[in-house]
Parts: sequence; C-alpha cells; structure tokens
Amino acid sequence: MPAVEKYVKWDYTDLAATYTQRPSYAPTAIDQIVEATGKQGPRVADVGAGNAHLTVDLLARGCVVDAVEPNEAMRTIGIERTEGGTVTWHVGVGEDTGLETDAYDLVTFGSSFATTDRLLALKETARILRERGWFTCIWNHRDLNDPIQNEVETIIRRRIPDYGYGVRREDQAPVIIESGLFEQPTTVREPVLHRVPVEDWLAAWRSHGILESQAGDRFPAILEDIDAYVRSLGSDQLEIPYETVGWIARLRPRR
Ligand SMILES: C[S@@+](CC[C@H](N)C(=O)[O-])C[C@H]1O[C@@H](n2cnc3c(N)ncnc32)[C@H](O)[C@@H]1O
Repeated sequence: MPAVEKYVKWDYTDLAATYTQRPSYAPTAIDQIVEATGKQGPRVADVGAGNAHLTVDLLARGCVVDAVEPNEAMRTIGIERTEGGTVTWHVGVGEDTGLETDAYDLVTFGSSFATTDRLLALKETARILRERGWFTCIWNHRDLNDPIQNEVETIIRRRIPDYGYGVRREDQAPVIIESGLFEQPTTVREPVLHRVPVEDWLAAWRSHGILESQAGDRFPAILEDIDAYVRSLGSDQLEIPYETVGWIARLRPRR
C-alpha cells in the first residue's frame, strides 16, 4: 500500500462536494499536453485526480488512464464521473503512487502538484514513466484583471491582508530542472472563459483549499462577503475569465 498518510498535507474531504463546480481547463492546453506524447491513446497516470476534472479531459482524448487519488470523498466522486471510461482508480499520492515502473507515456498533475513534496513527486514520476515519457502539471489561474475577480480579491485581502497563492502560482520550471530528471520544460498558457450560474460559482469558492487554509476561522465570513458582492451584481449567470497555465517536460534519457 502506498504511504498515503505520510504525504497528505491537504485534506479535501470537506471540499469534495463543491469541487466539481470548479472551472474546466482550457481545451487547447489539454490538446497540447496529450499531443506532446506523439501517441494515439497514450497511457497516462493522472495523479491527485480528485473529482476527475482533468481525468475527464484525458479520457475524451482517447487516453488510457490510471487515476491516483488519496482522498476517499474526492475519489468517490471521480469514480462516479468517469464510470464506463478507460480508467482505473487507485489509492496513492504523488510521492508514492503504487503504480508500476516504466509504464506510462505521460504523468499529469491537475492542480495537484503543489499538494506534493514536488521533488519526491518528480522522482516517482520518473520511475513510472516509460523511457523519454512526459510530465505535466497544470492549474487554472483566476484572471485578476477581470473586474469581478479583482473585487473578490479585494474582499479576500480585507480579511487576509497577506493572502498568498503559494506554490500553485509560482514558476514550476526551477523545481523541474533542479530534479535533474527532465529536460527544459515548455510552458502552456491558454485563456478559458468559465460561463457559470452564479450559484455554482459561489459553491466553487467553498472548495477553495488555499483560501480555506489561509483564512482559518475567517473562511465563513469571507464566503459570506463574496456571496453578498456577487449577488449584488443582479445576474444569474457569470462569465469569468481564467488562464490555464501548465508546464510540460520530457524525461531525460536514462542511459
Ligand atoms: C485541487 S485538487 C485537484 C483535483 C483534479 N486533479 C483537478 O484537476 O481538478 C488536488 C487533489 O490532490 C489530492 N492530494 C492531496 N495530497 C496529495 C499528494 N500528496 N499527492 C497527490 N495528490 C494529493 C487531493 O486529495 C485533491 O484531490
């Protein structure tokens, strides 16, 4: 059994129910990631697969996926969402996937790389990848120039003045290079517009792990402020711009 407890620092149990409302990744970004493998129906390990947000996109592009997820609540929803697909679910973590050695064309981390000890996760990725296979990590970044996002940012900073995004908004190239296992990564940046009912967008804030962890007992009050502001706009639907940002890196020859 993989050493799940040793490595899970972020408990997604309470966030699972609303996580499915989070915005999808830009389709053009996922196309680039899958096409990098140069294969039809590549074998993919999707790590920290959660509610299957990225897994669904990979399956839609013909990938054969092993989805790895430590959290039972997230995994249960992920399994439901991918029923009938070419996917097998596993309990594991990025640092210890429990998957077989030398088996995958691509290992993906959808918004999950920052939950891991990244150097250990890269080492584990290199172990399970086939010769010259590919690693990728992606996130959706809120576009803070958008007026609604900007106001939400102000609301958050009113209660958490030193609010930070942590590793998820950092350049991932230095840690990938530091591992010594991968070639120079390329970056993917693709805009994506999230058209969403107001209620769903507000629900998605309830699954925001980074905000929850930095807000502590201020989390409910911040959510109330965001609710009040967004409802004051008087619209049932929102159009919220995001940017899918990712890094793609190829395993160095093992020799
Ligand atoms: C932000 S969610 C991302 C879910 C999904 N991959 C997506 O694209 O939206 C992060 C997931 O990473 C999982 N996680 C937490 N610690 C982890 C670890 N050490 N290794 C892998 N996944 C981990 C969480 O349980 C959660 O399901």
